[in-house]
Amino acid sequence: MEKVQQACLPQPHTLNRFGPDMRRTNCMIKTALISGANKGIGFETAKQLGELGYKIYLGSRDLEKGNAAVTELRSQGIEVELAHLDMSDAKTFHQVAAQIESDHGLLDVLINNAGATFDQGIRASEVPIDKVRESFEVNFFSHVELTQILLPLLMKSDAGRIVNVSSILGSLTLNSDPTSPLGTWRSLGYNGSKTALNAFTAILSYDLRNTKIKVNSGHPGWVKTDLGGKGALLELKDGAATNVWLATLPDDGPTGGFFHMHAKLPW
Ligand SMILES: NC(=O)c1ccc[n+]([C@@H]2O[C@H](COP(=O)([O-])OP(=O)(O)OC[C@H]3O[C@@H](n4cnc5c(N)ncnc54)[C@H](OP(=O)(O)O)[C@@H]3O)[C@@H](O)[C@H]2O)c1
Repeated sequence: MEKVQQACLPQPHTLNRFGPDMRRTNCMIKTALISGANKGIGFETAKQLGELGYKIYLGSRDLEKGNAAVTELRSQGIEVELAHLDMSDAKTFHQVAAQIESDHGLLDVLINNAGATFDQGIRASEVPIDKVRESFEVNFFSHVELTQILLPLLMKSDAGRIVNVSSILGSLTLNSDPTSPLGTWRSLGYNGSKTALNAFTAILSYDLRNTKIKVNSGHPGWVKTDLGGKGALLELKDGAATNVWLATLPDDGPTGGFFHMHAKLPW
């Protein structure tokens, strides 16, 4: 209690020549944790939310890469802390929750962004089961577990927002249509784990329907990253737009949906 009250006082470094800058008091700064933010869409989302005044917890499993990303964002004036988050190690989930609780006592935004593909181009009839399991571990189970651990902190926010970074490749509507534009982009592990993540969005949002928390899935688009490849259509700046919109939804914004930019996508 004492810690929270203390945190809500204007901090000395926020005094400027006009007096205390109330926007910058710890209790008013919005906080956002983004997993897999050392590069790609996660990094760009951290940058854009940071520019909006959010304090960023930059999730990275690799400390060296994470610290390099933190240094780059700080050089652009963004308030950011490294959050050591390995999606294969739940111990790090508890450590990050403790870090945020000790700093702020609450969390406003969780962006479940870390993701990887293990079975691209492999047919469902032949894919090694380990690759399917690995996909679900990283793209689904880890996000469920991290979210559950952070929910008590999100519940303390006036406007908690959970963004599950999904993919149009997880759409059952498109996967079940042989003529859909997905073509042969139908990997069981990657696509199936994104479908499961979408199920988490739908079911968790129902569970939290009487709270101030909104839960949505977003498809960033096909974005130029290590995962998306050089031939992708969108630049990073636009690839982060859906995440930023869903993270900053107003009170009357949607919950329990699947979106790209502001458009609804088929489940
Ligand atoms: N790019 C696209 O076209 C596209 C389209 C639809 C959806 N998405 C989704 O967007 C999200 C971000 O993808 P991206 O394109 O930005 O890919 P990216 O550049 O490859 O970045 C992926 C991030 O996830 C992290 N990550 C992967 N496995 C992890 C693990 N086990 N523990 C912790 N972190 C892990 C990576 O960390 P390391 O650097 O340590 O590997 C990296 O920070 C993913 O969920 C992806 O599925 C991307």
